[in-house]
Amino acid sequence: MKSLLSMTDLSLEDIYGILDLAAEIKEKRSQGKITDHLRNKSLGMIFEKSSTRTRVSFEVGMNDLGGHAIYLNSNDIQIGRGETVEDTAKVLSRYLNGIIARVYSHDTLVKLAENASIPVINALSDEEHPCQVLADLLTIKEYKNRISDMKFVWVGDGNNVCNSLMLACAIVGMEIVVACPKGYEPAEKYIQKTRELGGVLTITDNPLEAAKDADVLYTDVWVSMGDEEEEAKRLKDFEGYQINEELIAVSKPDVIVMHCLPAHRSLEISAGAIDGPHSVVFDQAENRLHAQKAVLLKLMIVDEE
Ligand code: CP
Ligand code: NVA
Repeated sequence: MKSLLSMTDLSLEDIYGILDLAAEIKEKRSQGKITDHLRNKSLGMIFEKSSTRTRVSFEVGMNDLGGHAIYLNSNDIQIGRGETVEDTAKVLSRYLNGIIARVYSHDTLVKLAENASIPVINALSDEEHPCQVLADLLTIKEYKNRISDMKFVWVGDGNNVCNSLMLACAIVGMEIVVACPKGYEPAEKYIQKTRELGGVLTITDNPLEAAKDADVLYTDVWVSMGDEEEEAKRLKDFEGYQINEELIAVSKPDVIVMHCLPAHRSLEISAGAIDGPHSVVFDQAENRLHAQKAVLLKLMIVDEE
């Protein structure tokens, strides 16, 4: 694993390795133990879009590991004035030990990785959000003591987070049901990849039916970054695709309710669901830090060997 652009860059062993390491460094952090294995290493963080969790957790993560993170808003670096992605990757590789990038087009990440001599990590693209999903798996493991043999239900847009979750479920052996309005299904490429990986995937437009006996209920915003122009149409099309008490009632009694955040109460999730006893959303947010530190250690130390 040189870079992490897609969940498919990770094997089952990689995923378990990352989750074990994340749990170990989470425990050490809670005991105030120092884990500064990335001393004198620097991470560049290119952002074309807004972020709260990803930006802060990567920056704090690098600090915890004894390294340094540099926030690079794409409008403030020369890429915003037309310097090519290829040249940017080559130049940054001369200074840094790793790059994370949050981009509109997944293709930008591919170009960065192809031209960089250091690891590139997907901090969200229009196609995938693997760092989020590693934190989600860590959270599921904490609550369920396993990440396989469960029913995972996605309600809402077949978007970037959904794509990475479908792939992850296929790799780890979780059944996944995606309930989305017609026209908002995940891209065919991701449905196919999920099935090629042996995933047990159902796509439906009926959230209540989907939620039956769910171990995990997961949703995300109806309007992702980059979809703002479609907002009015989306708000109409997604009506009824909400995780709420009605869906929780037909799920397993110990169902966990997940959301990558930021959330919109009374749109994709009811206040009762996100703030209620089944919700684990803030554990997910915290676990971004621990899971990403594990990824940084795996990529940036392996890179040196
Ligand atoms: N979930 C997530 O990636 O959040 P941010 O957009 O705040 O980074
Ligand atoms: N699907 C959302 C995720 C935000 C973390 C987006 O791309 O905006």
